[in-house]
Amino acid sequence: MNFNLKTNEKGNLSIGGADALELAKNYSTPLYVIDEERIIENYQRLYNSFSSKYANFKIYYACKANTNLSVMRILKDEGSNIDAVSPGEIYTALLVGFKPERILYTGNNVTNDELKFALSSGVRINLDSLSQLDRLAKLPDTDGKEISFRVNPKVGAGHHDHCITGGDLSKFGVMEEEAVHVYQKAVDLGFKPVGIHAHIGSGILDPEPFKLAVHTLMDVAGRVYREAEVEFEFIDFGGGIGIPYEPHESILNLEMFSQEIVDLFKEKLYEYNMGNPTMCLEPGRYIVGDASYLLTRVNTIKQSYRKFAGVNAGFNTLLRPTMYGSYHHIVLANQPNAKPTQTIDIAGNICESGDMFARDRPMPDIEEGNLLAILNAGAYGFSMSSQYNSRPRPAEILVQGGRAEVIRERETFADLYSKQNVPERLLK
Ligand code: LLP
Repeated sequence: MNFNLKTNEKGNLSIGGADALELAKNYSTPLYVIDEERIIENYQRLYNSFSSKYANFKIYYACKANTNLSVMRILKDEGSNIDAVSPGEIYTALLVGFKPERILYTGNNVTNDELKFALSSGVRINLDSLSQLDRLAKLPDTDGKEISFRVNPKVGAGHHDHCITGGDLSKFGVMEEEAVHVYQKAVDLGFKPVGIHAHIGSGILDPEPFKLAVHTLMDVAGRVYREAEVEFEFIDFGGGIGIPYEPHESILNLEMFSQEIVDLFKEKLYEYNMGNPTMCLEPGRYIVGDASYLLTRVNTIKQSYRKFAGVNAGFNTLLRPTMYGSYHHIVLANQPNAKPTQTIDIAGNICESGDMFARDRPMPDIEEGNLLAILNAGAYGFSMSSQYNSRPRPAEILVQGGRAEVIRERETFADLYSKQNVPERLLK
């Protein structure tokens, strides 16, 4: 078991020093609980592992994983930069206080208005297509603007087809064969290309495809340097580092991984004589994934064709099991290390059969009223939540040194309708 669950003297799950049962009692459920210390540990472990081998290294936190302002603030204070993929994420990052030059905007299928917004906010723009380049060039004041391109390095990887973002089915990036041409064109249009980027997918625990992508991207960078004379200030290998969700999955050997990536990077820099550009990574899941728990209360034990434990959260709260069939480990918060005595389905409260957190899950005895903790809920948990079935979204709590603070209030019924208008004529 990799999850390193902490318990307190009562035997209850302890999150950042706070008792999960107390949190649920005080703030109600469903509830996202975020452990501040764990975010910092994850950030520093990754940063130290790479920067100790290549000093010119930067992390761009992929904030799509979790855009909570407090989470982003913690990472800002750690020295992180931001990977933003929409104007909303740019706006949020600026609001948190990230300087524009610390934000890299990687949009896809962006509109001209979105390009204008990115340009006027002063962030770095990472282009995804020739179309974007041409349309950006038509906007005022782009002369000398620093840009980069996302390249599809032909290889993809990820925990689910939906999360593979490289290779011949992917909608992302420019093809590696056209890279020299797009960079040359950018120069001809008056831009200053300074970077190159790839992101091959998400939830990668096997270092091999990642290494292959690094290899390919470095060769593309080398060709662009030689043929279009672009000097790279940064080379960005995207995010994607996985975390174990299932007890049997092993943690990526970070030291070995960083050593192999850095060695390959240095070897290629030397081969093409490309100097010492900044190496960037864009982790999302690795930083915040295991720092958060979704607490949910069992309200129904039901034996029909199968045995179900029904809880008061659903795929509106945590979409990953339904959307990708993702495994999330689930424990009883009052005895997180109890041995399984049965297999049971753990079902959400949304009116769809696919609303299932687990099927045939080995669990200890569960009773109505028990509190369950769904682990590894910090990445793509709240950020993919919705109000489906007219269920207000839950609160988020930040825990540090045993102290809990509400960092997002639970939505109310009024929030469900706050943006709607019923035309006068329908009210007659
Ligand atoms: N950079 C770019 C350009 C990305 O598109 C992504 C994720 C990342 C970095 C961060 O990837 P990470 O390190 O978190 O794996 N909703 C899915 C994941 C979708 C990821 C989309 N892009 C899930 O719940 O697994």
